Amino acid sequence: QTEISRVRNLEKIQMGKAEIEPWYFSPYPQEFGDADMVYICEFCLSYFGEMKQFERHRAKCTLAHPPGNEIYRDDFLSFFEIDGRRQRTWCRNLCLLSKLFLDHKTLYYDVDPFLFYCMCTRDEYGCHLVGYFSKEKESAEGYNVACILTLPQYQRKGFGRLLIQFSYELSRRENKLGSPEKPLSDLGLLGYRAYWQETIVEMLMDGRAEGNIEDLATSAAMTTNDVLHTLQNLNMIRTSRNQHVIVLTDAVVQQYEKSKEKEKLKPKHNIDATNLVWKPPV
Ligand code: COA
Ligand code: NA
Repeated sequence: QTEISRVRNLEKIQMGKAEIEPWYFSPYPQEFGDADMVYICEFCLSYFGEMKQFERHRAKCTLAHPPGNEIYRDDFLSFFEIDGRRQRTWCRNLCLLSKLFLDHKTLYYDVDPFLFYCMCTRDEYGCHLVGYFSKEKESAEGYNVACILTLPQYQRKGFGRLLIQFSYELSRRENKLGSPEKPLSDLGLLGYRAYWQETIVEMLMDGRAEGNIEDLATSAAMTTNDVLHTLQNLNMIRTSRNQHVIVLTDAVVQQYEKSKEKEKLKPKHNIDATNLVWKPPV
């Protein structure tokens, strides 16, 4: 764990078809700060300061998907589970890359205690990394996500929502209630709030869960604390005779109906748990 409080150091990176301007500092070797472009192999995530070197590497690199087990596949997406201890270099490269878009001050060089859940789209060339979240193999606090990232070229298209949905699907398999590691970044908070609201309102509207906090938490594999805070944010809690009562306000119902109208035009993809081939690691 290293303290990092330096300014953005890389000018630009190229990864697959995308050229991206980094947001924050990441401790790539110092000489990369002088390069106009850093070329990142989208499969093995190694990095090059010169196009020539990068092309030589691409001719040799045989990786076409993240180096782990594919634990989920549907028509649209795949998820791979990568063990930080077994794939140290790859996971360190992933942490270096994601630090470019994460504002926290620490970088975990010690990837051994983490599993990395990597979401990819597939085509004839392979499985292209879209985003990932890391998860401690054993979290004393019960966190189900440590870091979460959608690569910038894929942001704001619903992929973060799918990453979050997947993280709760894993918690459900573990028979646990999960919550992301705090503090969340501003973007992390926006993504989680949107997910929590959507999930809870949806469950209440279609009657999947009883109107109490424990039942909502169990159904969503979310902590009761996150359920309670979400309901409070939506002004959906009334207290009568010292008891919490959950109410669906007109505002919430209207917003729900609006979003359902939108979905008719542009359906949202969802994680289908029947495609998840995974048992909690022992
Ligand atoms: N502004 C406002 N709302 C936003 C937002 C933004 N820039 N980004 C996400 N949201 C909210 C919206 O409600 C959005 O739904 P909408 O697009 O239908 O309005 C909802 O979150 C889901 O967005 P989605 O497209 O699924 O998220 P994403 O793929 O962009 O990923 C993060 C979200 C947080 C993973 C992504 O912003 C990210 O990687 N950020 C950098 C890393 C980081 O800060 N990670 C969290 C801390 S560890
Ligand atoms: Na997080």
